[in-house]
Formats: sequence, C-alpha cells, structure tokens
Amino acid sequence: MNWIRDAWYAVARADEISAKPLARTLFGAPMVLFRDSAGAAVVLSEVCPHKSAPLSLGEVVGDHIQCPYHGLMFERSGACVHVPGQQQIPASLRVASWPCAESLGLVWAWPGEPARITDAPPGHARHGAAGWTCLHGTPLIFPAAIERVLDNLVDPAHTSFVHRRTIGGSDAADVPLQVSESADQIVVQRWIDGSEPVPVMRRHGRFEAKVDRWQVYALHLPNLSVVDFGAVPAGTARDEASRDRHYRTYSFAALTPRDAHSTHYFWLVLRNFAPGDAAVSAEMEAAYLATFAEDMELLERIEKIRGVGEAPPETLLAIDGGTVRLRRALAARLAEETQR
Ligand code: FES
Ligand SMILES: [Fe+2]
Repeated sequence: MNWIRDAWYAVARADEISAKPLARTLFGAPMVLFRDSAGAAVVLSEVCPHKSAPLSLGEVVGDHIQCPYHGLMFERSGACVHVPGQQQIPASLRVASWPCAESLGLVWAWPGEPARITDAPPGHARHGAAGWTCLHGTPLIFPAAIERVLDNLVDPAHTSFVHRRTIGGSDAADVPLQVSESADQIVVQRWIDGSEPVPVMRRHGRFEAKVDRWQVYALHLPNLSVVDFGAVPAGTARDEASRDRHYRTYSFAALTPRDAHSTHYFWLVLRNFAPGDAAVSAEMEAAYLATFAEDMELLERIEKIRGVGEAPPETLLAIDGGTVRLRRALAARLAEETQR
C-alpha cells in the first residue's frame, strides 16, 4: 500500500493503553501497544520473531513484553533482551518499534523513518486551557480507505445532504466555500451571515437573535482534521477573542490507516460552553456518533464500489476545491517520501 509513513499518526486514545497489552492493526500490520513501568507508551510489531506467537497474548514484565509461547522478552526499542535457555542473543532477534508520544489525550506513533522526526505530535492551545472542556470520543473504525475518509473531511458540501437529519443547516447549502492552501494544511471555510442559530447554538450559545456563524475545516496534512465551528451575535466583532467569548467548538479527527480498506478514526471535541458538564458531553458524543454513522454508511458503499470493485472515473465539480488540493498535496508528499 502507498501510505505516507513519515508523520505522527494517532494509534490509541490515551486511556486505552495500560500495562495490559493491546493488539491493534495499523498500516496493515499487527501491532501491540502497552505502557512500561514508567507509564510511557510503547508500540511494537506484534509478531514474535521466534515462532510468530502474538505478543499481545503475553505479559508486560517491568519495562519489557514477554512472549506467551517460550518467554522471549523485548524492550521498547524492539530488541530482544532475554531468551530462556541461552546466553547469547542474536542482534537480528528483534521486532519493529515505532517512536511514540502523547498529545491531545491521544497516543501518537511514527511508522516511518525515525531520523525524519522533526517535531512533536500536534497539539492545540485551547486543549487543557481554562474555560475549555474536552470530550474524548470513543475511537472508531471507518470501513473505507484513509484517502476516502480524508476527502470527506475537506468536503463540507456533503453536509447539507448526508447530514440533513443531524447537523446540516439548510441555509448553508448555497453559501460559497473559500479554499486556501499552505505548506501543510488545506482550509475550506465560509461565514453564514445573519443566519438563524442552529439548534445546538441556540441551546448553549444563548443567542437572542440572528447570528453570524462560521465553519472552518482545516486539514493538517497528512492525517488531522480540525473543524472550527461557532457563532457570534450578528454584526459583532469577529476577532479571536470575540469568537472565544461566544459559541465555539473545535472538532478534531485524527486518521490512521488500519488496512487498505479501513481507517482508525480518533476524535475529540473542545468546547467553550457547559464547562465540565458530563451530561452535555454525553449528549454531544451521541450526536457526533450519529453524524459519523451517516458518513460511514455512505463511505462503506463507495469503498465497495471504488476500493474493492472497478468503477468508472470520478468527475470533479466546482464544489471539489478541497478534494483537488488534498489529492495533489498527498500525491506530492508521497512522491517526496519515496524519493528520499
Ligand atoms: S514464539 Fe515467541 S518465544 Fe517462541
Ligand atoms: Fe460527514
């Protein structure tokens, strides 16, 4: 598979990993995730190089994982550090290891060349900041290739149709989208001026009259979508401070290839209202899951048509500015990575 590997990819919600090994398919490969005695996350290939037993059935002993079959032990670098019944350990006896780090309540791993790590995994200034509450959503698996799920996230035009029963406000369908691009992100956005607040905004934003609302869909290449969504009373200031004072949410989706036809979908939502209110978080989680189910249903069908079967070429239209830029940017990045 042609995947971009030199990037931080979310591999688990932080609370999914413990000293009990967790098996997870990532980039088409069986991997095992656990925490060492200091609580640091470790991501290794799951297959023991002795006789291929799955390491996730083994145990974490101190900082090492022990194979359930004959007791070989591996450290976080992937090197074997103990072989029952023999002193000499061949240097070749090791499993693949991916560097990892935590941010935004997620564990991120680097499936590519470690020497090409230049920065930390993505963060956000409002995560953990006063006045902001974070909902760490249940991790999902989308039954479609990562390119298709990414495409859906730079395509706000589908919202008025696929999500008409959930989040799709009908007064936005004809408001044009502005698309812009920089070195590492693609942004699709629009302001809908003098609009009726959508139901969630009416409820939590306490708006008495019309609002100016915005949708800013930023795709941080190659795998993170951040949607900034909110409203201010119509005609008021639009600077960051004013937008932070009224109704605002940031929805994050961090995507990671599971295999050629499925994608891990880690998500979280930051909000500036109902601080710490667990009931509001539960209600938001249910609403997001209902919306994701609508995307999943459609993308699964498209995956069967295009990803598994043979389909005629697509036709791109005026609404596909985000898609065009996304495909070009991903192809360029992949070409650059494979040429290095
Ligand atoms: S298969 Fe892992 S120790 Fe033998
Ligand atoms: Fe959608």
